[in-house]
Amino acid sequence: MVGNIEVAPQCTWGTVKMPGDGLLISIDGPAGSGKSTLAIALGKRLGLEVLDTGAMYRAAALLVLQHGIDVTSDMTDTSDSQVASLVHGCSIEVGPRVLLDGVDVTDAIRTHQVDMLVSRVAAIPAVREDLVARQRAWIAVHDGGVVEGRDIGTVVAPDADLKVFLVASDEVRIARRAAERGMPADLSLSGVVQGLLGRDRIDSARPVGALPDAVRMRTLEQEDNVLVIDSTSATAVTVLDTVMAKIKEMRLIDAV
Ligand code: CDP
Repeated sequence: MVGNIEVAPQCTWGTVKMPGDGLLISIDGPAGSGKSTLAIALGKRLGLEVLDTGAMYRAAALLVLQHGIDVTSDMTDTSDSQVASLVHGCSIEVGPRVLLDGVDVTDAIRTHQVDMLVSRVAAIPAVREDLVARQRAWIAVHDGGVVEGRDIGTVVAPDADLKVFLVASDEVRIARRAAERGMPADLSLSGVVQGLLGRDRIDSARPVGALPDAVRMRTLEQEDNVLVIDSTSATAVTVLDTVMAKIKEMRLIDAV
């Protein structure tokens, strides 16, 4: 399965994985930090499947909207368990298209309504438990891959071969999101900005699967298989090159 290369009889480089050979890379970061761009590029470069776990939480939020459950005010235990059992009973397939119970919801999960709700749904512990189990099953079936989200390197797959954490300034993240959505760059007063920063707050403060804060990030950075990249003024190509350099340095793959 895995190639052991011996460069010289007295010098063993140890285990080197081939692309797609059980290699698992996690990418975590807030909205607009460049996770999806990096995940897709890495997947292509390494021949690995990519899982966008945010799309799963978005599909769960859409389901809640479709069923008219009110989670906009303070969530109650009743609405939490209602949401959790609804999510438990649905099928979510994430690939080039996103299917919720067999229906294509690729565009429907990117609306402002879903943006405003998703972090609340994602903060419900039973929902996270359910989706984390599905994400681990996906990793097992695909024998690794590139998995992006908020808690992949910390909760879903803490034993990933390489754990990338992306950070970027609020201004840059907001401008990127505006560009993605075809909106003017100056969105300082818009609902999009409030939504993005509001999601950051909820995603960082929840008791389970929280996005690591700066202090946690400094601790994580001490691990050999962790790479923290500030993408504020880096191009997508530079970020990809930085990750590829780390992969080579760690001798995770034979050749690229
Ligand atoms: O694309 P963007 O970064 O805006 O968000 P996303 O990756 O589509 O994720 C949407 C939301 O799902 C996030 O704001 C989180 O609330 C939630 N999420 C999560 O809780 N855990 C993950 N592993 C991925 C997403």
